[in-house]
Amino acid sequence: WQKIAPRKASDPPVVFHWLPIVGSALWYGNDPINFFQTCQERYGNVFTFILLGRKVTVALSAKGSNFVLGGKSTAFNAEGAYMHLTVPVFGKDVVYDIPNEKFMQQKKFVKFGLSTENMRAYVGMVEDEVDEFLKQDARFRTYQQNDINEWGNFDAIGAMAEITILTASRTLQGQEVRDNLDKSFSQLYTDLDGGFTPLNFLFPNLPLPSYRRRDAAQKKMSDFYVNIITKRKQNPDGDHHYDQIASLLDQKYRNGDKLQDHEIAHIMIALLMAGQHTSSATLAWTMLHLASRTDVADAVYNEQVKYFGNPDGSLRPMSFEDLRHLPILDSCVRETLRMHPPIHSIMRQVREDVVVPATLAAPSKDGVYIVPKDTFVLTSPLISQVDPRIWKESDKWEPARWNDAEGVAAQALKSYTDENGEKIDYGFGAVSKGTESPYQPFGAGKHRCIGEQFAYLQICTIIATILRRVELRLPTPVPEHNYHTLIMMPKDPKSIHYRRRKFD
Ligand code: HEM
Repeated sequence: WQKIAPRKASDPPVVFHWLPIVGSALWYGNDPINFFQTCQERYGNVFTFILLGRKVTVALSAKGSNFVLGGKSTAFNAEGAYMHLTVPVFGKDVVYDIPNEKFMQQKKFVKFGLSTENMRAYVGMVEDEVDEFLKQDARFRTYQQNDINEWGNFDAIGAMAEITILTASRTLQGQEVRDNLDKSFSQLYTDLDGGFTPLNFLFPNLPLPSYRRRDAAQKKMSDFYVNIITKRKQNPDGDHHYDQIASLLDQKYRNGDKLQDHEIAHIMIALLMAGQHTSSATLAWTMLHLASRTDVADAVYNEQVKYFGNPDGSLRPMSFEDLRHLPILDSCVRETLRMHPPIHSIMRQVREDVVVPATLAAPSKDGVYIVPKDTFVLTSPLISQVDPRIWKESDKWEPARWNDAEGVAAQALKSYTDENGEKIDYGFGAVSKGTESPYQPFGAGKHRCIGEQFAYLQICTIIATILRRVELRLPTPVPEHNYHTLIMMPKDPKSIHYRRRKFD
């Protein structure tokens, strides 16, 4: 627990609460969007709330994101905010368990492995996996029976989570992980994932069975990867691998040291956890919207036919280069990430007193606001992404807004320039303009996501492959957000109906 200091004149306004330690935890936990929007109206873009004994200062709007995500890492520190959640799951000596400077080198290694050559290899693998899944999974029985008149259904989250882990393991994680998915690996994943919840974020160690299962699974999974690495080292001339293990084995830190086996193992676990829920939630939301907007789903299908159609009516397979030329499909994913960015709160620990710029929050009558050392800051890009002052019909899922060259959406996509003024080309995908943008589903600044391009490749290829084979319908409204998971998921009911296409 943090001892909450009495309020000083320079402190930002504090959200009213009845219970001293609990503070606003229930309101924030049950509906963070309503909490942020109501407090923004009441107190402005900067306010502080109490979250189970922690003092958290929220900075909203694009300027608020800039304040938090563009701030110096010596002042706003990610390790301090996330290590209690991540170290027991990922393991030692990676990500937030090491000095930031070393983690930035590890991030570069991963980026290196997400090369164009590897991305090219991945598209076909993802298509194959989805094809096999549709041919074998019991939820797609009416598809398998070749029946074009019969509707089947599948749960948006369950089916998409399975397709996500199948495709991520075949590509990034490597064949050995893919081969073990039906065996021991999947139970280990489930146990480890049980340690990646809001409860674990708030209470890193409780004497509960799920915490013990998390710790046991972490150790076994770490050994599983180390075993793969040992075998590959014993057989260096074996098959060519396009996965991250192969790439990490070749990397060296600036001091010339190679990565140790357990570091590679723990980076692989971190990548698995970072990509699984974020990508599967984005997939589930996009599929739900497509199923409820058949006009858009038809447009995505027609785009496929136009671009990939053969004279005999069949559709040729996709390639990495092709994915850059499918603006309708691309806009569906961008628009989903605008309304349903998987991560609604980005946090940092405050390591020195930081003055809030007057352009972000009008100074208090006693002078400027100061975010005090040893507290936390939080920004929520989602609030700018659904702000009706920025986006026309902001609560409507409307992918067409991304194809308006003059619109806010197009402006938000201008290429990203990093803090050193270097232009970063993320290829295709929802590239936002940097730390001060109203569109940041992948964060911004030093801790920005490096998985964006892979996530786009994976999500777009999966959606296109499914839509080529089936039509979708949603018999219920698009669900509301469930905020009780770390990643924003759809609530029930979320069953999607499908029917096999005639010309498959
Ligand atoms: C960081 C979102 C997929 C790896 C982030 C951050 C966000 C984000 C918002 C910034 C967190 C912060 O500043 O505290 C997403 C979304 C995804 C996605 C929306 C999919 C739709 C992936 C995938 C991978 C990945 C597939 C791995 C292959 C990472 C890594 C970081 C990161 C390594 C850096 C963390 C740091 O520097 O502290 N992601 N992510 N993400 N993401 Fe992703």
